Amino acid sequence: MVEKKDIEWGKLGFAYQPTDLSYVSIYKDGEWGEGTLTPDHTVTLSECSGILHYCQEVFEGLKAYTTKSGDIVCFRPDQNAKRMHNSALRLCMPPFPEDRFVDAVEKVVKANAAWVPPFGSGATLYVRPLMFATGEVIGVSPATEYQFRIFVTPVGPYYTGGVKPVKVRISEYDRAAPHGTGNIKAGLNYAMSMKAGVEAHEGGYADNLYLDPQTRTYVEESGGANFLFVDKDGKLVVPQSFTDSILPSVTRRSLVEVAKSYLGMEVVERPVKFQEVRDGEFVEAGMCGTAAVISPVGEVDEGDKHYVLASGMEEVGPVMKKLRETLTGIQSGKLEDKFNWVHKIDVD
Ligand code: PLP
Ligand code: COI
Repeated sequence: MVEKKDIEWGKLGFAYQPTDLSYVSIYKDGEWGEGTLTPDHTVTLSECSGILHYCQEVFEGLKAYTTKSGDIVCFRPDQNAKRMHNSALRLCMPPFPEDRFVDAVEKVVKANAAWVPPFGSGATLYVRPLMFATGEVIGVSPATEYQFRIFVTPVGPYYTGGVKPVKVRISEYDRAAPHGTGNIKAGLNYAMSMKAGVEAHEGGYADNLYLDPQTRTYVEESGGANFLFVDKDGKLVVPQSFTDSILPSVTRRSLVEVAKSYLGMEVVERPVKFQEVRDGEFVEAGMCGTAAVISPVGEVDEGDKHYVLASGMEEVGPVMKKLRETLTGIQSGKLEDKFNWVHKIDVD
C-alpha cells in the first residue's frame, strides 16, 4: 500500500498543486515520441510557438478515485481519449493515439498514487491531459511540433457550496459560435467565456447559462458543465444544440444511461427553450461535468428577473440527489458497474 500524502483532503478546493510526476510526449517529424514521466512541471517554449499566437491547444479532464475496496480507478478514460482525438482534428493537430492516452493516464496516476485522495474523503485526483503547438508559426497555419502532457492534482468541489444549490445567470455573451468550436474541448472556448465568468462570479453566481449563439432562444450549457432539467412529470430533460455548440459531456452521457438503466426514468434529449425555464416548466435543474459532478441549480437570473426552481435554494431536489448518489456510487465501487465504466489502475 502506498502511503498517502499528509493533506487535509476534506478542505481542498478546485485548485492546482504540483504532484510528483507528469507525463510528456513530443510530436516531431510527423510522429509522437515515446512518452516519459517527468518531475519537471514546467514547459519551455519559443516565443513564436503556435500555442502563443493562434491558440492551438486542446485539453481534457477526468478524475481518479479510491474505491470502497481500496482500488484506484478512473472513469471512462476511453471517452476522454476519443473526445481529445476529435478536438485535435478540429484544430488541425495530430491526434494522440487513443490507446496511448489511456496508457498514459494509467502511468501518471500510478506514479502519483500517494496523491489519490482516500475513499470517503470527498476529494478526488483531477487528471488534466493537454496538447499544444510548440512549433514555430508566424503565418496562420498549423504547427509541425506539439507536446502532449498529463498532470494530476488533488481537488475538492468545483462550484463552491459543493452539493448545495447554486445560482446561475443568463449571459449576455456567447461562449461559442454556431458550428464553431463549442463541441470540442479547446482552451480558446474558455478564453472566450472568461469575461462572462468573472462578471458572473462578481455578481454572486456560480456560472453562466449560455443560450444558443444563433437565436438566443435555447438553453446550451454553462462555462464548465452541461445542463440537466427535471420536468413536472419527473422526466429528465437534456438540452440538445441545433448549432452543435454544446460540449459532449462524458458525465451527461453517463447520467442519461444512469437515469434510464439504474433509476428507470424517462429521458428526453431535445432542444430546450429558455422560455420553459421562465414559465416554471422544470422542477429541478443541475449542471454536470467531471469537475462539477452534479451541482444543483436553485435559481436562474435573467437581468433583474429571478426564476427559482421548485426545488429552491435550500435543498437539493430528489432527482439530482439520486442521480449524484448513483453516479458517485458507481465510481466509488458502492454500486454495481453495469456498463464497465470503471477503469481499474494497477498500482502495486
Ligand atoms: N461543458 C463544458 C464547457 C466543460 O468544460 C465541461 C468539462 O469538461 C463539461 C461540459 C462537462 O464534460 P465532462 O462531463 O466530460 O467533464
Ligand atoms: C472538467 O470538468 O473537467 C472541466 O474541464 C471543466 C473546467 C471548466 C474545470
